[in-house]
Amino acid sequence: MKITFYGHSTFEIDFNGTKLLFDPFFTGNPLHSNFDTNQLNAKWILVSHGHGDHVSDVEDIAKNNGAKLISNYEVVNWFEKKGVTGHPLNHGGKYTFDFGRVKYVNAIHTSSMPDGANGGNPGGFVVWDDDSCFYFAGDTGLTLDMKLIPMTCPKLDFAILPIGDNFTMGYEDAAIAAEFIECDTIIGCHYDTFGYIKIDKSKAIEAFKKKNKNLILPSIGESINI
Ligand code: NI
Ligand code: MN
Repeated sequence: MKITFYGHSTFEIDFNGTKLLFDPFFTGNPLHSNFDTNQLNAKWILVSHGHGDHVSDVEDIAKNNGAKLISNYEVVNWFEKKGVTGHPLNHGGKYTFDFGRVKYVNAIHTSSMPDGANGGNPGGFVVWDDDSCFYFAGDTGLTLDMKLIPMTCPKLDFAILPIGDNFTMGYEDAAIAAEFIECDTIIGCHYDTFGYIKIDKSKAIEAFKKKNKNLILPSIGESINI
């Protein structure tokens, strides 16, 4: 799988030939505002919750790429009123798409839309097919519910976890989350974008190393293969 980090919580994952874009936030990202989203070629956009730093470019990219949205019922409903096509999920539910299975799992956070409308309850995604499986946690604190993922989904190849603290778990709790989900390869996100979430990256990597976990922190625009 080719994973490209676009800053904050925005990732494009080439999932065995299908491009999945997660939480697109270019407009308003002080670290990555000049990116031309026309170069993206996403088939699906997966959105964890309604906050502006996760949805600011959903409408434009969906329309330019002809991409469909996957999110919770309220987020999908809000974007459908703007002409975006979507597939609604809710917590604990999974659905088999043409590229694989997606399960919407719990996140401990809030979820309002940029205009203040109800954004449902926030979540994360576990995505898999016969060969690969990964977890995109969205914005969340550490929660025991994460232990349900290895009980109900295939073995994770990697997981994308927030590590920036303040609005989500910090890296110390995220290292515990890596144990809960029984995953050794973690890509960190949701850090350094704003003042509240600036971190010491070497300390974060060390916190994971103490638990024999590998924390990968790609630079913005960098692609890695897992
Ligand atoms: Ni949020
Ligand atoms: Mn956020």
